[in-house]
Amino acid sequence: MSQQSLVILGIESSCDDTSAAILKDDTILSNVTATQAIHEQYGGVVPELASRAHQQNIIPVVDAALKKAALTLKDIDLIAFTQGPGLMGSLVVGTAFAKSLSLALNKPMVAVHHMHAHILAHFINEGVPVPGFPFICMTVSGGHTQLVRIDSPIEMVVLGSTIDDAAGEAFDKTAKILGFPYPGGPLIDKYAKEGNPDAFSFAKPQVEGYNFSFSGLKTSVLYFIQKEVAKNPNFIEENKADLCASIQATILEILFKQLRKVSADTGIKDIAIAGGVSANSGLRAKLAEEGRKLGWNVFIPKFEYCTDNAAMIAIAGKFLAEKQQFAQQDISADARLPFVKP
Ligand code: KG4
Ligand code: ZN
Repeated sequence: MSQQSLVILGIESSCDDTSAAILKDDTILSNVTATQAIHEQYGGVVPELASRAHQQNIIPVVDAALKKAALTLKDIDLIAFTQGPGLMGSLVVGTAFAKSLSLALNKPMVAVHHMHAHILAHFINEGVPVPGFPFICMTVSGGHTQLVRIDSPIEMVVLGSTIDDAAGEAFDKTAKILGFPYPGGPLIDKYAKEGNPDAFSFAKPQVEGYNFSFSGLKTSVLYFIQKEVAKNPNFIEENKADLCASIQATILEILFKQLRKVSADTGIKDIAIAGGVSANSGLRAKLAEEGRKLGWNVFIPKFEYCTDNAAMIAIAGKFLAEKQQFAQQDISADARLPFVKP
């Protein structure tokens, strides 16, 4: 290890994935995630079970990340952990672990905002161009849907957000109506590939400014399915691909309408996506296509850095450490950590 090298251990435990990553300078050496299958049978994340699973997973996951990076605990220079937002019982596990490790190793720590980290995942060195400042990021996950202007790695402004469901919830809740297991987003993506996006039409909202709304879409899918299934009990099975393609196309149209507006109004053409829903293949293809049409430079994170992961926490931690924004032992997890410090 050279003198200037900085080795960061990133820890993510905000929801139902326990993840640890090792970042050396701006290169990821390992990124290990334990997902929690237990929630599938409940149709959503059960906070108490998530917290328990994090407790069981955290040490093996950190061990695995170190092993994969061929390092040991004494090589770590900095610990970065997710302080919030997320599920309290989940966040507490990662936060307490990070604080104990910081104390035991006598190494500094930084507290990361989960949504900042989704955006900053773009700066992990993958040998591809990174966005220039300012850029727009559309962050689409199971808990959030935001349009953010990023002025620097630590200065970000939310320009619009969802007024009801997040984009990931729109995928998961409509998937549930179709009878898919949780989380249904990836299944909609899978079946949509074979379907006709114009087969069915669903409600699109009219919302102020750069905000989003998905609850009308969910209700319109529910009523439509109830009506059709009453006539033909096999309706969903017979039209699965077309239903998925049409639902996905509607969600994407809702997202892109506001994204186009924000780019046109700000004149910003560096456009990035982040969050779990940016794993959606339709979204990735549409961003590339719109980019070609509108002259955008588009930035799509590598698949494994889209959904919850600790690599993004580690890179976000690096930027905080550069600004000397270290956390102290009196820090605690914050389920509602504000996006911008009040
Ligand atoms: O960012 P993330 O991993 O966790 C949160 O912080 O919420 O996002 C999870 C969300 C879930 O709603 C999941 O259904 C959705 O991302 N998702 C997808 C796909 N992969 C994950 N939605 C649509 N298509 C996908 N391929
Ligand atoms: Zn997330």
